[in-house]
Amino acid sequence: MLDRAVRIGMIGCGTQANVHFAGIKALGADQATVAAVCDLDDERLAAACQLWPEARAAKDYRDMLAPGDLDLVIVATMPNTHEAISLASLDAGACVLCEKPFMMNVAQAEAVLAKAKETGKQVQLGTNMRYLPTSRYLHDLVQGGTIGEPVFAKAWGCHDDPPVWGPHYHLATSGGGVLASTLVHTLDLAMWVGGSPNPLTVSAATRRLFPGKRGPKVDAAIHARYDAEDLISALVRFDNGTFYSLEGNWCSEKTDFHSFELTTTRATITGEPFAVKVDVEGEIVDQTPQLDGGDDWSQSVHTQDTTLIAQLRAGEPWDMQDARQLLNLQKVVDACYESARTGREVVL
Ligand SMILES: NC(=O)c1ccc[n+]([C@@H]2O[C@H](COP(=O)([O-])OP(=O)(O)OC[C@H]3O[C@@H](n4cnc5c(N)ncnc54)[C@H](O)[C@@H]3O)[C@@H](O)[C@H]2O)c1
Repeated sequence: MLDRAVRIGMIGCGTQANVHFAGIKALGADQATVAAVCDLDDERLAAACQLWPEARAAKDYRDMLAPGDLDLVIVATMPNTHEAISLASLDAGACVLCEKPFMMNVAQAEAVLAKAKETGKQVQLGTNMRYLPTSRYLHDLVQGGTIGEPVFAKAWGCHDDPPVWGPHYHLATSGGGVLASTLVHTLDLAMWVGGSPNPLTVSAATRRLFPGKRGPKVDAAIHARYDAEDLISALVRFDNGTFYSLEGNWCSEKTDFHSFELTTTRATITGEPFAVKVDVEGEIVDQTPQLDGGDDWSQSVHTQDTTLIAQLRAGEPWDMQDARQLLNLQKVVDACYESARTGREVVL
């Protein structure tokens, strides 16, 4: 229980940090305040300091964490630094909200979850799509059991262009391309809505289409560093008998769109465009409800942050995601890459 504002440290003050900043500002200083900011980049650090003049600033996250006075650290750097920063933040007594993808691999994820257990602090991955009103509705609908048992899901992410505004295409920085950086959002959602089963086997294939596609649009410096997959197809089997098909493409001519669809024994539900179609006595009946705030992406980040902050203040545990779910997501990502590398199915 906290009878004061939650003290937040932001490590990495780039694109995604600014989405968090806007939501925290809107909450009000009585609820939460950014008490410390950190970035290696002088300009980004200066911009964060302008936004939060009271915050202490550091280029080295260890200096930022040293006073041990933060309740929550948001890790908004690229994945190659997530493990070290999360471990140090937990050691400094803070809970951690880490941006996706969680870690570079399962071993790092296990190390961070073990540290959370040891320190008694909470860790959550920034799977903000779970906080969309449509996602929550579909999750609760499946849990309620009225549309039968989950059978099959598709999760996809097809984008017009690779996200070259950040080094998501550079493996040593991002840990993975279209799967780890983008498709991971709808994969997590499909697993969560489908009842969070455990993965059993994974078979995947990947390709890199850039620079044959989109190359002329992109700066030469990016060409030199672009070594991640930008096309993936995968099949995942789970311990509840369900099977999932994954498709990710950063160079798609089809559409700039990502979503998931879950087929149950009585219905098919879709994240975006939001739809609930149910078999009623042999006829397909559209039971899609009207929901406010449907698919607002930034709002889902704000709802996520607001919820976690409110729970910290009330002394309640974070309850959107547990360690098993977090680890399972990382296992599927790792196994996809292993399967694509070896050309064999991976048994988990
Ligand atoms: N949840 C979402 O919808 C969403 C959207 C975009 C990005 N992300 C995730 O957020 C994270 C950051 O992505 P981004 O697009 O904001 O990247 P970015 O490159 O815009 O920002 C990252 C910042 O981290 C700083 N940085 C790197 N190493 C550092 C270190 N050791 N100490 C301090 N600062 C350091 C960089 O200087 C940069 O300013 C990634 O994991 C990304 O996948 C999530």
